[in-house]
Amino acid sequence: MTTSTTSRTWSPEAFAAAVGYAVWAPSIHNSQPWRFRCTEDGADVLLDEHRRLAACDPDGRMARISCGAAAYNLRLALAAGGRPARYRLESGSTLLHLWPGPQRPPTPLERRLHQQIPRRHTNRGPFADSPVDASAPRVLAEAARREGGQLDFVTGEAALATLAALIRTAEARQLADPAYAAELRARSTGADHSVEGIGPSAAGAAPHPGEVLTRRDFGGAGHDTTRDVSRHPVVAVLGVLGDGPDDAVRAGMALQCVLLTAADLGLATAMYSQPVEVPAIRDRLRRAVNPIPDPQLVLRFGYAPTTCYTNRRPVADVLGA
Ligand SMILES: Cc1cc2nc3c(=O)[nH]c(=O)nc-3n(C[C@H](O)[C@H](O)[C@H](O)COP(=O)(O)O)c2cc1C
Repeated sequence: MTTSTTSRTWSPEAFAAAVGYAVWAPSIHNSQPWRFRCTEDGADVLLDEHRRLAACDPDGRMARISCGAAAYNLRLALAAGGRPARYRLESGSTLLHLWPGPQRPPTPLERRLHQQIPRRHTNRGPFADSPVDASAPRVLAEAARREGGQLDFVTGEAALATLAALIRTAEARQLADPAYAAELRARSTGADHSVEGIGPSAAGAAPHPGEVLTRRDFGGAGHDTTRDVSRHPVVAVLGVLGDGPDDAVRAGMALQCVLLTAADLGLATAMYSQPVEVPAIRDRLRRAVNPIPDPQLVLRFGYAPTTCYTNRRPVADVLGA
C-alpha cells in the first residue's frame, strides 16, 4: 500500500486499498451493511441502514457486529501498510472514526493476521470429530481480549446440550415467522451471488436433525452424505461487557480478531447467531453459560476442508458518504 510520509492522513488510494480488505469481513447473511468514507483528518466506518435485515436483526446488533468486523480488517490493512489507525467509537450511523497514528512497520502478528483476511471464510461443511490443538482456546480467548471481548468455551456435556437446545429453539421460532423465512430466502436462494448473499455451495447441506448444533438453513441441498456427525463440537460464546450499540461494534472487532487468529491456527469456523437474535433466548443464554456478560455470537472451531467462498460488492459501491 502506498502511504505518503508527509500527508496528514491516508491517501485516497491507500484508503481504498485498505477498504478492499475491509469488505472481506463476515456479515450477517453476507448483507455487507457497511460504508467507508475519507474525512479531513482520517476516515469513518458507517452503518448502511438500508442493508440491515429487518426481520432477523430489528435492533441492528448483527449489522453492527458485521461493521465492527469490517473495521477490524480496515485497521489491520492500514497497519500492514505502515500507517496504523487510532480510533474511537461513535454513536448514530457513524460507528467508528479513525485517524492515522505514528508510522511504523507492521508487527509479525499483524502481518500474519492480515494475510488471513482473504483466506478466512465461514465453513458450513462437516467438521472432523477431533479436538482442536490444546493451546488453541487460550490463544483464541486472548485474541478476543485484545479487542475488548470475552470468549468462553462451552465445556461439559450438560452445558453443550443446553446451548444446543437454545440454538434449536431459536432456529424453530425464527422459521415460524414468515417475514424471517422470506428474508432468509431473499438472502440465500434469491440473492445475486456474484456480489452478495449466500450461494448454494457456501450454504452447505441442509441442516440434519442429528447434528448437535443446528445450522441455519440457507436452502442447501440434501443432507444424507454430508451431514456433520461430530458429537463433540468445540464451541465458544463471544461476549462483551455492555449491551449498547457501540458494544456490538466492539464485539465485531473482537470477532474478526478471533476468526483471523483461528484461520492462522489452521482452524475452520462456523457461526450461530440465532440464539442471540431472539431476545428471550438470549436472556436464557446469558444465564445458562456463565460467566458470559452480554452474549453476541456463538462460534464453532475445528478442522475441516475449505468450502466455498462468498462474494462481495465492488469497493466503489461502499466508498463515500
Ligand atoms: C453477526 C454475524 C452473524 C452470523 N450468523 C450466522 C449464522 O447464524 N449462521 C451461519 O451459517 N453463518 C452466520 N454468519 C456468517 C455469515 O453468513 C458469513 O459471514 C457471510 O455469509 C459471508 O461469508 P464468509 O464469512 O464466508 O466470508 C454470521 C456472520 C456475522 C458477522
